[in-house]
Amino acid sequence: MTTETLIEPTPTIKWAEGKVSLIDQTKLPLEEVYIETADHLIVCDAILRLAIRGAPAIGVAGAYATVLAANRIETDNIEQFKKSFLEKAEEISNTRPTAVNLKWAVKKMMSRAETFEGNVKELKDSLLSLADEIKQDDLERCHNLALHGAAIIDDGADVMTVCNTGGLATSGIGTALGVIQYAHAQGKNVHVNVCETRPLLQGSRLNTWELKRTETPFTLITDSMAAYTMQKHKLEGVFVGADRIASNGDTANKIGTYSLAVLAKHHNVPFYVAAPLSTVDFDINSGADIPLEERAPSEVTRIEDIQFTIEDIDVSTPAFDVTPAEMIDGIITEKGVALYPFTSSLEKQRNA
Ligand code: MRU
Repeated sequence: MTTETLIEPTPTIKWAEGKVSLIDQTKLPLEEVYIETADHLIVCDAILRLAIRGAPAIGVAGAYATVLAANRIETDNIEQFKKSFLEKAEEISNTRPTAVNLKWAVKKMMSRAETFEGNVKELKDSLLSLADEIKQDDLERCHNLALHGAAIIDDGADVMTVCNTGGLATSGIGTALGVIQYAHAQGKNVHVNVCETRPLLQGSRLNTWELKRTETPFTLITDSMAAYTMQKHKLEGVFVGADRIASNGDTANKIGTYSLAVLAKHHNVPFYVAAPLSTVDFDINSGADIPLEERAPSEVTRIEDIQFTIEDIDVSTPAFDVTPAEMIDGIITEKGVALYPFTSSLEKQRNA
């Protein structure tokens, strides 16, 4: 099925002639460079380095990485093939710990292999079809959630976001940023305050690139200007994405998201999370069970190779934080806007 999206999807990840092509997000916005590879370890390295990043996008990248890994297994014995495939897939799913989409997508690939009846060549073809389906499914989910989210943005709205949750973080449309871009594409007058998102600057590097493409009006602010901005301007909402949502609605997202939720509460600004249901981990009860990635201290002490503080110091490096469910006004998914208490509303959407 072809989805009629309201904005042009970004070229985040593609499959062509036995290779994966990824736009290198460490180089944006100054250079548009692509990583093309038939080696699953290069895709894993790209995920680790954040050359591809964002929960749904790393799910799709993980699925294609398993296809590349499968293509390099040289046996015609189906049982040996399955054993080797499952080991490699398990390694791929552990590349980054927080975003559940990676595990969700790779688990689908593993189940396909486990239950498959046929020869090795047929299984390899079937794995590629499934990865393509996962990518298309992500595009459709994001399109639908962006429509639901755009419906709650009024003409003239001034909003805020953190990290990059646009097409680059998905198969091409985005979640929270997609919601804002869809509202703009529908002809609404929308302005977005973009938090730069220290330490890796996904906001200032990637959102600016995406918002320029769709000509959506924005202002770049440092993370520490969020309180000032909310005090000075009446905001209609804060829209953020998610890496993993527990079944009670507790939401792990980019470090700094929780600070925005606290500020939004103080300034009486609605706080929304936008994510496909593939980001909800129904197996865990609360945010306490979400593993939060710690990154290298050099990501805080340096920008690329430029060191700007002494390095033999104690540095805190969480990549994500957890916003408690009760601070979230709505979770926008492809099925609609789930409201608190989320245990029942998300479960209802899951079964809808
Ligand atoms: O470390 P990153 O850049 O992968 O973190 C990404 C985020 O926190 C996003 O907000 C989240 O994955 C949702 S992307 C649609």
